[in-house]
Amino acid sequence: MRIVVLVSGTGSNLQAVIDAATSGELDVEIAAVGADREGTYGVERASEAGLETFVINFNSFPTREEWDAALTARVASYAPDVVVSSGFMRIVSADFINAFNGKYLNTHPALLPSFPGAHGVRDAMAYGVKVTGCTVHWADAGMDTGPIVAQEAVVIEDADTEETLHEKIKVVERRLLIATLASLAAASSPAGRG
Ligand code: GAR
Repeated sequence: MRIVVLVSGTGSNLQAVIDAATSGELDVEIAAVGADREGTYGVERASEAGLETFVINFNSFPTREEWDAALTARVASYAPDVVVSSGFMRIVSADFINAFNGKYLNTHPALLPSFPGAHGVRDAMAYGVKVTGCTVHWADAGMDTGPIVAQEAVVIEDADTEETLHEKIKVVERRLLIATLASLAAASSPAGRG
């Protein structure tokens, strides 16, 4: 199963996918890692791992539509079976998602449909919920919307800060993302299709 991973920042979840693919725990080929801006640590991690990388800089395009079309063309050039948004902080169009047969997987650090958006951890804490978590889902053209594939709860402790809570969520998130990719890869293998 060929995947393209999209990042906007640190790429710690991407690193977990790279490590799992390198160790053989996860049977996927990372065809490329792309970002929406220059200078992300995620792209640096991918380069260090010897992976193909690209940047389709959102700020270099006059309109969102032109950026989206450029992103779609570049990702399509790798002919991925699945595209993974791993901390990719941009909404993409329905055309983008349709170009990949709807196979656009996103992870989010909250129990969707609660607390979508760029600050899922902060928003859950601000609301005062006692349990939050993470969600892996097939993304549609909305903000963190689309059919849920996997979810797991994380308890918020009184002593948690946004940072400590996000780290706890990311531990679970990495496990769920890798397990989801593993089961998709198994289903797409000749034996799985068998
Ligand atoms: C992850 O927690 C991911 O769920 C979140 O960004 C973080 C990226 O971390 N995505 C969203 O909030 C999407 N709405 P990373 O760059 O260290 O993998």
